[in-house]
Amino acid sequence: MNREIRLENVTKTKNGVTILKNINLTIPSSEFFALLGPSGCGKTTLLRLIGGFEKVDSGRIFIGDRDITDLPIHERSVNIVFQNYALFPHLTVFDNIAYSLVILKLSKEEIKRKVMTLLTAFHLEEHVNKYPSELSGGQQQRVAVARAIVNEPDVLLLDEPLAALDFKLREKMLIELIDLQDNLESTFVYVTHDQLEALTVADKMAIMNHCGDLEQIGTPKEIYEFPNSSFVTKFVGTTNIFHGTIKDTSTFSIEGLGDFNIYIPERKPWMAEGCEAVMSLRPEKIYISKEPVENFSNQLKGIVEAIVYHGRSTQYNVRTEGGELIQAFEQNEEHFPHEDIDYDDEVYLAWQKENVVLMET
Ligand SMILES: Nc1ncnc2c1ncn2[C@@H]1O[C@H](COP(=O)(O)OP(=O)(O)OP(=O)(O)O)[C@@H](O)[C@H]1O
Ligand SMILES: [Mg+2]
Repeated sequence: MNREIRLENVTKTKNGVTILKNINLTIPSSEFFALLGPSGCGKTTLLRLIGGFEKVDSGRIFIGDRDITDLPIHERSVNIVFQNYALFPHLTVFDNIAYSLVILKLSKEEIKRKVMTLLTAFHLEEHVNKYPSELSGGQQQRVAVARAIVNEPDVLLLDEPLAALDFKLREKMLIELIDLQDNLESTFVYVTHDQLEALTVADKMAIMNHCGDLEQIGTPKEIYEFPNSSFVTKFVGTTNIFHGTIKDTSTFSIEGLGDFNIYIPERKPWMAEGCEAVMSLRPEKIYISKEPVENFSNQLKGIVEAIVYHGRSTQYNVRTEGGELIQAFEQNEEHFPHEDIDYDDEVYLAWQKENVVLMET
């Protein structure tokens, strides 16, 4: 069954302010799609339009071959878990989840089986007879997700559904969600602020900028490794950003690095000699050492200004001779890696040219 979501030239204005402008977006059928973007960029508005809670000003929305633009909410086979997960306060956890199945007139046994499966998956068994007011925020959130998924909609829209959960529980829930999505073959659209979460769960993801501009759509790997704008680079993960000039076919120069030329990967058509560009270099791609190292295309000297221990990695802030600050992460494979490196030490930073990402300014 085709459960692709397609938005064609969708525009939405509220009180004279354009929230979404000419959005064209295809979300592949039965995929886990993450939507990431800064606060206020229009993510919730987009979900509400797909769910039918708001009307588009212009444009069309399709699910598979069905034009759902003018369909009422209950005819869309789209469920939504709202940011504020409003549960029915007068119903128990069981009845909240069972609600849509009761309306569908499923047998009591069938309802019980489906509800109990989700209660187990979401670690809610012991709360089955409680009312929402007797649950924590995180428990309510899990009930809200279970309630939205129980009738197996074609499309499930999730608006930051795990924001109230602690890190461990969020990880567990994400794994359950991915499993459920796999089994149901519904299309999931998952809105989050948390870039790590998006990178973990998504088959594909989109980065949204203000006015609903879709900056980049791709797999998590494409977005992280090959961002196509400095907005995307800075928004997803940590990176070192430099402004500079393309010198010739193979090098890039940055004023703050003096005469140092950075070797860059294969030249793209837009990279004319002398043109300005933005360079991104992820901190984990940089190797740090007290001695000069061999077999790296780029190597630079600097002084260690800060060392921050993060558990699984250590961050080094290094001031180069030209005055630029560069961040490098080292994986802590051993208990005390780079014990020899201290504040104020002179170090070498080295990286391969393939790890340099260049973008137009
Ligand atoms: N009724 C309204 N009238 C005017 N502007 C509105 C109205 N509702 C929302 N907005 C504006 O629309 C924009 C998009 O809001 P939306 O809730 O879709 O953002 P979001 O991306 O979901 O943000 P967040 O990540 O904070 O949830 C915001 O700038 C918001 O101020
Ligand atoms: Mg929102």
